[in-house]
Amino acid sequence: MGFFIALMGPRLRAETTATPAELVELGRAIFFDANLSEPKGTSCASCHDPEQAFSGSHGSTIGVPRGSRPDHFARRTSPSLLYLKYVPAFRYYQECDDPRLAPFGGLFWDGRVDTIRELARQPLLNPDEMNNPDGRSIARKIAVGSYAKAFVRAFGPGPRDPEITLASVGRALEAFLLSDEMAPFSSKYDEVVRGRDRLTAVEMQGLRLFQDPAKGGCFGCHAFSDTAKDPTSSMFTDYGYDAAAVPGNPKVREKRKPDLGLCERTDQTTPSADPMYCINFRTPSLRNVAVRGAFMHNGAFTRLRDAVAFYATRDTNPGRWYRSGVKFDDAPKKYRGQVNVTSPPYNRRAGDPPVLNDQEVDAIVAFMRTLTDARYRRIAQ
Ligand code: HEC
Ligand code: HEC
Repeated sequence: MGFFIALMGPRLRAETTATPAELVELGRAIFFDANLSEPKGTSCASCHDPEQAFSGSHGSTIGVPRGSRPDHFARRTSPSLLYLKYVPAFRYYQECDDPRLAPFGGLFWDGRVDTIRELARQPLLNPDEMNNPDGRSIARKIAVGSYAKAFVRAFGPGPRDPEITLASVGRALEAFLLSDEMAPFSSKYDEVVRGRDRLTAVEMQGLRLFQDPAKGGCFGCHAFSDTAKDPTSSMFTDYGYDAAAVPGNPKVREKRKPDLGLCERTDQTTPSADPMYCINFRTPSLRNVAVRGAFMHNGAFTRLRDAVAFYATRDTNPGRWYRSGVKFDDAPKKYRGQVNVTSPPYNRRAGDPPVLNDQEVDAIVAFMRTLTDARYRRIAQ
């Protein structure tokens, strides 16, 4: 075990003698520790609430979650943390019909981090989230946590470099977030795949519309398998990126710098900084989408039905979505030309009939509601 961890790279040495099960329990305790923020009161679970499929807003009503200080808000909506073990590391692939490299995978809406163990420090240090000034202050809080003894047992006694403490915290959180319980596969859809349940007629209609390139065309990005007998083949995303140009979130009044998504990745070893990747965001999994309180990277919608109706009428009736009167108003002008206007359902023009009528939008919503895990069915939209 120690040998394997030593291979993980020199920067993040977090050697442990703990068993996998002990690490999961330690990670869980850290995840729920509300003393880890500055000021105290905000844990990972504040924005990733287990009652809401590990998504959430921490009491905010503007779509993006509130941080540990009043009037501080995260920049984007908080994704569900279920099923993260299926998110591949960031990479590019070549599609046969397109000379450009297609980006794929990575964590966060812009794919900027590859592993949870590296990612965990970001919310802890982000001034709009848990607001710790540095690794040292996090290490001090960990040393007095209710789990301090288990932490020392797993990673050895201090004093230690705060970098190593942060790496150890990342390792424990990763163990928890990648554990089997975080991928329950208990939705109605999963039961249908296992042959133990059936879709209703409307849900089945929604599935067909979702797949049909002449209708929803959702399947082109929110991919799943309708033949596999194994639910793990259906994550309802291909982990690719797209420029959907969702409208601005009117509730975020503060002036913010435009969110450029993927091209903000500063990793110089990849071409993602190329402006052609600006305004692209990672396609989210639609598992448990009906329990979310805010949709899209910026929280533009609060109702699932609106998210679907947007696809149906973005191009046929743009005035319904872009209240400023300017189509694609949340994207800086110079990038509007790279919004996806070709793949279904985006291949219509102003004045055309919408690609989905109201009843069809409802059917797709009904289908997406079958993706809600058993624990959350009572709160789904
Ligand atoms: C103040 C709210 C807030 C808190 C607290 C918070 N997060 Fe998040 N989390 C977010 C937001 C917002 C995003 C999306 C950020 C982005 O894409 O740039 C996110 C994204 C993530 C992701 C990426 C998921 C994906 O699908 O790519 C992981 C993993 C994660 N958070 C884990 C944690 C952990 C672990 C903690 C505690 C150490 C934590 N978060 C605390 C708001 C929060
Ligand atoms: C060309 C790729 C593509 C297609 C086709 C597509 N989506 Fe998406 N979907 C995305 C991306 C990318 C996002 C995130 C956009 C953003 O936040 O800027 C998204 C976001 C969503 C969300 C919000 C999820 C969340 O967690 O906030 C829903 C719901 C959704 N899509 C449903 C659908 C439905 C229904 C269809 C078909 C009518 C569809 N999508 C077609 C790529 C696609």
